[in-house]
Parts: sequence; structure tokens; C-alpha cells
Amino acid sequence: MFPMRDAPSRTAEAVCLFRALEQLTPGATRVLDDPYARMFLGPLGRAALNSVGATGRLAHSPLNYAPMLVNFVVARHRFIDDALAAALDDGGVDQVLLLGAGYDTRAWRFADRLGGVPVFEVDHPSTAGRKAQIVEKEAGLPAANRTVVHVDFQVHSLRERLFAAGFQPQGRTFTVWEGVSMYLTREAVKACLRAVHDITAPHSRLAADFWFLTDGSDLSSAAHRMGANLLHVLGEPVLFGIHPEESGFFVGQLGYDMLDLCGTAELEARYLGARKSLPGEFVTLMEAR
Ligand SMILES: C[S@@+](CC[C@H](N)C(=O)[O-])C[C@H]1O[C@@H](n2cnc3c(N)ncnc32)[C@H](O)[C@@H]1O
Repeated sequence: MFPMRDAPSRTAEAVCLFRALEQLTPGATRVLDDPYARMFLGPLGRAALNSVGATGRLAHSPLNYAPMLVNFVVARHRFIDDALAAALDDGGVDQVLLLGAGYDTRAWRFADRLGGVPVFEVDHPSTAGRKAQIVEKEAGLPAANRTVVHVDFQVHSLRERLFAAGFQPQGRTFTVWEGVSMYLTREAVKACLRAVHDITAPHSRLAADFWFLTDGSDLSSAAHRMGANLLHVLGEPVLFGIHPEESGFFVGQLGYDMLDLCGTAELEARYLGARKSLPGEFVTLMEAR
């Protein structure tokens, strides 16, 4: 277990910046439309957004790693948006659960489609606290049925905190667990998946992404392996990974069937066109048995 952080998550702000950057892409070619992401950027994030806006260039790197990372993050978000939209269209969602919500803006972006379906945003108190301060001051956000729940997955009982916050036991739930599993211990990952399975209805869906130790010998794969160590220096070490080939068995033991799994090639084919995604990450959609 790593020590509880007191500072808001930097990776949450980084992926929020990536979604804000996508708004600079012309509408027709945009993978994702998140007009609210920029509201949650601090001074550094805003400076990066302005710099890319002014120069039209993300970074100078022979690896092109930064654009690949941005592309992965927006494609993963889009994959999950599409899965949520399909579940809402089917009419089978009583509540939405965002685990490790960070600066996820789905409660606002999907407000019309949700039609009052409650969204429970769970996050570490430090990140949830910063988001709350921004939301309080922001006049440009639409009305949303949002409940914020403070949880440290490594320490607190998700079940107890959610029930105390009004989460409907055994409700038909769409859960988003995006960009979080890699920062938890294996035990915490399993405990979290078990807890969600226990408190939601059968056939509830869960979208989650996973990191894995890619064995590619190319420079991008090497950069991806090094990135995990860099995140350690930033205070958010990558702790958990699972290979896509083993993920069906892993989640199967915890009561989930894998409905869809998108790795690098699939994300490029479905969403990114000529833009390249990262090796070593994939996003999934599962259904509780
Ligand atoms: C990379 S960010 C992803 C945020 C959001 N899901 C998104 O995609 O924009 C990781 C999130 O996981 C949360 N997180 C990491 N470890 C956590 C823990 N032990 N308990 C609660 N939240 C945690 C962080 O606070 C942060 O919001």
C-alpha cells in the first residue's frame, strides 16, 4: 500500500488537459467533445493548452509519445462514452457510478441523456475537494444530479460510503473505472471489482481500462515502460497491470463477462484514423453475471 496523498491527483489533471486539447481539433475530426474539461485546469494545464493552441504542436519528440498518450486517453474516453450512451439508450440504467472520477464531466455532458439518473462520483478526498471548489465557482455548467463520495480505495469501504450517500443497493448501474486500476494494489483492484459486483444488479455494466507490461522492443514501448516509473516520482506509482490475454480470466473470477476489449489497434481503427495510440494499455466493457 502506498501512503495517502494529500495533494489533488496530477494524473487526473493531465488526462483532463488531454481532453481539453482535443477541443482544439476541428469539430468534424474530434474524437471526443468535452467543452467543460478546460474549466478544471490549473495554471500549468492552462499554459500547456494555450501553448498548443498558439503553436498547434503538442511536443517535439522523436518518439511522438505525447501525442500517442493524448490519443489513447481521448479514445478510451470515447469508448466509454459510447458504452454509456448505448446503456442509457437501452433504458437499463438506474444510476451511474464514476470510480476515481477525477475531472470527469459526464454528469454534465450527458445531463440530457441521463434525464435525472443519479451520478455518483467517487474519488480520493484531495481530488474530489479541488473539483468541488471549481464547480462551486463555475457558472457555465448545466444542472446535474451529482453526488460526490469521498473514498480512498486502499483504505475505506466503498460499499459503506456509497450506501451512506444514497446509492441504490442492487440498482442497475453503469460503472466507469477509467485510469484508476493501475494506481491500486492487486488486492485493492480485486476488492473494488468485488464490491461493485456485490452492490449492483446482475447485467450491470462496468467500463475499465488496464495497464500492462508490453514486451515490444520499439522505442514507444520502452517509453511506456519508463512512464510507469516516472509516475512513481510524481507520487502516483503504477502498481497493477494485467495483459489483455489474461484479463478475461481475471475479471471472470470476480463475476464479470468481458463484452468488449479495445487495445491499440482497435482504438486506432474505431476512433483515431491515422492518429496513433499507445502500446501497453487497453479499455474494456464488462457485464456482471
Ligand atoms: C488518471 S486519474 C483518472 C481520473 C478520471 N477517471 C478520468 O479519466 O479523467 C486517476 C484517478 O484515480 C483516483 N485515485 C487513485 N488512487 C485512488 C485511491 N486510492 N482512492 C481513491 N481514488 C484514487 C485519483 O484521485 C484520480 O482522480
